[in-house]
Amino acid sequence: MLYKTLAQHFIDEIRSEKRITGSRLPALRAVVKQHQVSMTTATKAYDYLQETGWIFAKPQSGYFVKSILDNRKCSFPSLSESQSEARNPQKFAPNHGYNHTPEFFSAFGTAMLAPSLTPSIAFQRCIKRVTNRAINGLFHYPENRGNIQLRNALSQHFKEDSFAFSAEDLVITHGCLDAVKLAIETTTKQGDTIAINSPCYSGLLDLLTGLSRNIIEVPCNDNQLDIRFLETLMANKDINAALFSTSHINPTGVSFTNTQKKQLAELAEKYQIAIIEDDVYLELSHQKHTPLPVKTWDKAGYVLWCGSFSKTLAPGLRLGWCLPGRFIQTYMKQQSLTDSGVNGLIQTALTEFINTGDYRSHIHSLRITLHHQIHQYRDFLIKQLPSSATISQPTGGLVLWVHIPNLNTKKLEILADNSQIDIRCGARFSTHDTYKHCFRINCGWPLDTYPLDNYPLDNYPLDNYPLDNYPLDTVDQEKNTLSSLAKLCNIIGEITDIRA
Ligand SMILES: Cc1ncc(COP(=O)(O)O)c(C=O)c1O
Repeated sequence: MLYKTLAQHFIDEIRSEKRITGSRLPALRAVVKQHQVSMTTATKAYDYLQETGWIFAKPQSGYFVKSILDNRKCSFPSLSESQSEARNPQKFAPNHGYNHTPEFFSAFGTAMLAPSLTPSIAFQRCIKRVTNRAINGLFHYPENRGNIQLRNALSQHFKEDSFAFSAEDLVITHGCLDAVKLAIETTTKQGDTIAINSPCYSGLLDLLTGLSRNIIEVPCNDNQLDIRFLETLMANKDINAALFSTSHINPTGVSFTNTQKKQLAELAEKYQIAIIEDDVYLELSHQKHTPLPVKTWDKAGYVLWCGSFSKTLAPGLRLGWCLPGRFIQTYMKQQSLTDSGVNGLIQTALTEFINTGDYRSHIHSLRITLHHQIHQYRDFLIKQLPSSATISQPTGGLVLWVHIPNLNTKKLEILADNSQIDIRCGARFSTHDTYKHCFRINCGWPLDTYPLDNYPLDNYPLDNYPLDNYPLDTVDQEKNTLSSLAKLCNIIGEITDIRA
C-alpha cells in the first residue's frame, strides 16, 4: 500500500502543477533516499504512475510527466439566468419520476461503490464484536436524535478533517435523503420555493416534487454557482430556502470553491434564509484532503448540513446525519413525528468502526482507488466516444458527466436499458432541457483488468474478499463492467452514426 501513498504524492504535485508536463521526475535512487522507502516501493510507485497515465518512461533518460489525458476545456451546457424561474417540478417530471431506476441492476446507474471496494470483512467483524454490547439496547427505543457515542465519534472524525462541531448539535437520521427531507420540512412549507443547483441530483428533484415544493434552478457556469443571481433571489424574497450540494456534486463532480462556500454562509445569514447543504460526497475527494463544507463558515446557524455513510461505506446501512444549526429544536420535533430512532445495532457498529480507525483508513485507500478508477473510465471513454464528447474531470465522488453534441440521451437511455445497461440521461437532472445531450455514469465499479494485465492486484480487494459473500448479480457485475462499458460506447457509436 505504501507505494500508492508515494504515487499519490507525485499525483498531487502534478495536479497542483508543481511538476509540469514534460518535466523529469527524480531518479528512483533519489526517491528511495528522499522518501525513505525501499527500491521495490519506489519502482512500484513509478509503475503505478505509468499505468495510470501520469508519467511515461524514456529509455536511458528517465521518467517524465505526461500531458493530462484530455486537454480539451471541460465546458458543459449550462442554464442561463433568463431561464431560471420558479417551477413546479412535478410538471416537468419524466415518466416514472426523475430518479426512476430500472428493475435490473447495472453498475453505471446508481451512484454507489462496488461491494469489493467496501471493507465488508472488517465491518462484519465489527458487527460481531459489538453485537453482545448492543443487544440490550435493542429492547428500548433508541434516542431519537441518535446515540451520543456515535455523535461523539462523528464529531471527532470530522474534527480531524478541520471541520469541528459539537456532538450535541448533531442529529442521526436514516441516510442523507432523510436528513434533507427533514431539513426541507423544518425550514419550508408546501408551495414554498427552494433554490437548487442546476443540474441537480434526480433524487432531490423527486423529493421536492413529493413534498410539493417549487424550485428555482440556479445556473452553474464554469462549474461555479451564480452567486449574484442567488443573492438577487434572496433579496427579492423569491425563495424561502436553498438546497445545494457543494462538494463533488452529483452529477457534475465539481466542488464549489471555499470562497463561494463562505459567501453562501454569509448570504444565508444576511438574508436569514436557510441553506440545506447535501454533502453526501464530501469525503470522496480524490485528493489528499477532505474539502470544507459551507457549514464551516456558518456563524449564525442558517446552514443545515446533511451527510451519510451511503457513498463511503454502504447505502444499505441507512444511516446519515444533520447539523441543523439554529433549527435544531424544530428539526428534532419534526423527526419525532414519524420516527423512533435509528437501528441501535448499526449505530453501535459504526461507532466502533470509526473509533478503531478502520473507517479513516478505509476512506484513505478508497480515495486513491476511486481516483485511479475514474481515470480509467475517462481514459476508456475518451478513446471510445466520438471526439466531440466532453467528459467531466471530477476532483472527487463517483460519477462522470458526459456531453456529446446532438446525442439524444433519452434515446440512449432506452437503448442501453434494452441491453441491461443503466445510465442516467441529462433530462433526469433538471426541469429544463439544457442537459438533453448529457448523461451520467457511475464509476464506482472496478473495470476488471483494464488496461493492464499486470494491474496491481491489491488495488482490487477481489482476491482478499471472497466474492461468494456477495449477492450473485453483483458478482456478475464486477466481472462484466468493462464489457458493459464497451457495449455502451458501441450503442453511442451506432446512434451518432445513424444521426450522421
Ligand atoms: C446528492 C445526493 N444526496 C443524497 C443521496 C442519497 O443519500 P442516502 O442514500 O444517504 O439517503 C444521493 C444518492 O445518490 C445523492 O447523490
